[in-house]
Amino acid sequence: MKAQHSLLPIAAAMLAATLGAAAPGAEEASATLSPQALQEIAQVEAEIDRIEAQTIGRLAIPPDNQVQQIELLGKLMLYDKQLSVNRNEACAFCHMPEAGFTGPVSELNRTTGSYPGSVRTRFGNRKPQSHAYAPLSPVLHYNSGQGDLVGGNFWDMRATGRRLGNPAAEQAEGPPTNPVEMGLPDIACAVYRASQRPYRALFESVWGQQAFAIDWPGDVEQVCAQPGPPPASEPTPVHLGPIDRGRAGTTFDQMAQSIAGYEASAEVTTFSSKFDAVLAGKAQFTTQEKAGYDLFRGKAQCNTCHRDGGPGEDPLFTDFTASNIGTPANPRLPYYAENRPDALGYVANPAGSSYVDLGVGNFLTNGHLLSHPSAVDARWLKLAPGNQARIQVPTLRNVDKRPDQGFVKAYVHNGYFTSLKAIVHFYNTRDVLPRCQPHDVGEGTTCWPAPESTDNMNTSRVGRLGLSDAEEDAIVSFMQTLSDGFMPVGQQ
Ligand code: HEC
Ligand code: HEC
Repeated sequence: MKAQHSLLPIAAAMLAATLGAAAPGAEEASATLSPQALQEIAQVEAEIDRIEAQTIGRLAIPPDNQVQQIELLGKLMLYDKQLSVNRNEACAFCHMPEAGFTGPVSELNRTTGSYPGSVRTRFGNRKPQSHAYAPLSPVLHYNSGQGDLVGGNFWDMRATGRRLGNPAAEQAEGPPTNPVEMGLPDIACAVYRASQRPYRALFESVWGQQAFAIDWPGDVEQVCAQPGPPPASEPTPVHLGPIDRGRAGTTFDQMAQSIAGYEASAEVTTFSSKFDAVLAGKAQFTTQEKAGYDLFRGKAQCNTCHRDGGPGEDPLFTDFTASNIGTPANPRLPYYAENRPDALGYVANPAGSSYVDLGVGNFLTNGHLLSHPSAVDARWLKLAPGNQARIQVPTLRNVDKRPDQGFVKAYVHNGYFTSLKAIVHFYNTRDVLPRCQPHDVGEGTTCWPAPESTDNMNTSRVGRLGLSDAEEDAIVSFMQTLSDGFMPVGQQ
């Protein structure tokens, strides 16, 4: 079932302005992005450069143990914009610490929800997730007791981890060649670019001297400067012999494993929130936070999906299953208007305004078109109908982490929500309030739009919670205790 995208003309007009631009690339950003967004982007880029320079400084005296060396390599790659086709977009562009390792541009969170790629006129279909805690997701598997798929990374679990034994590593292989993200035409380009970077020697000492011992073709620079996707007739445009191709694949795996190693490190996955301090007996909830936590685990049933731990289980605030909570479509996603060829002839979203994000079910049926996907296990195809439109339960750790009070964050897979209060109100009243009329000013308070899809929608635990306004506020207040940095890292 498809919802009406009443605001679609805005996204379409925005993108139309873009498509008039002469050529793609970093310079054309101004055609789509507002001055406010551009100013924030410039600040974020400067901060990425600063963190990168500081981290490169640590190469002078690298740590003496291999785990920490891998974490350092991972950080250097996460902040390396040279790994994108136009050398302008690091992973961190969509995942910065001050925003809880999710989107750091308030103006984009408030408007487009999704982020532009290295080709700045191409926006993705989803809101950036947090990369913290992601490596703690299990390898995707079917739990017959629960009757559910559990694990993997990405909103649709498509980074299964079944090839590398690590969902976050398989996740890190997605963005470099995703045409709407870092945009390289070939994974070998990521390896080639890494071979030119100051961390090369450390990489070789950790992963072996063979890592970059690849006979690069003379045109590699030129080929790798061409945004992907490559033509169907030539899926690997960097021409390598079979041994070098295999080596490039292995080195790419090791780059990804290094990144996942950093994401799992105590610098990122810190367990240093007020909630953790309360667990450790080093702090106390306020009355409101405590009331919120009781509701979270009781009347509001949040804990049934966003689990706060259990015997032998870390409180990660997700159970790594997927659900359809009935999130409305977000008509502000520029992706809906990406149904015409861009300046390079690429069409990101052939379905245009009729696109519906079918989440896990779509991955199980079709794989994923936009990024280097983990292979789909054909034996799981029968699970696709029951997973249609289901989205993986995200961790709530750092859900309120923001650089300042005025900073807007976007929530859920499509960024439809821009405040925690609105989400809690949605859980509370989805099935109580009427449908909104077009341009209804009550949207989000006295009415809700139709769900993006009603397939497999959860109606037992979501939609009619009977919470008062004060109870909604208390739950928000509890979620605010999940921001890391309350305790100094290493002292928890
Ligand atoms: C242009 C923005 C952008 C860039 C650049 C980007 N990401 Fe993401 N990231 C996203 C979005 C959007 C999602 C969710 C995508 C989806 O579910 O399809 C995501 C999801 C993730 C997740 C999954 C978290 C989870 O809990 O499942 C991790 C981990 C992550 N990104 C790490 C990275 C790494 C590592 C890089 C660089 C190699 C990177 N990202 C580059 C936007 C970006
Ligand atoms: C049936 C399982 C389930 C229950 C119960 C549930 N959630 Fe969720 N929650 C999800 C899923 C799935 C998503 C992602 C939805 C999407 O992207 O469309 C989500 C998303 C969220 C987000 C957005 C996080 C982000 O990073 O974007 C917040 C906040 C949240 N839930 C809070 C709560 C609270 C508070 C409650 C209780 C009132 C609750 N949830 C109950 C499954 C659940």
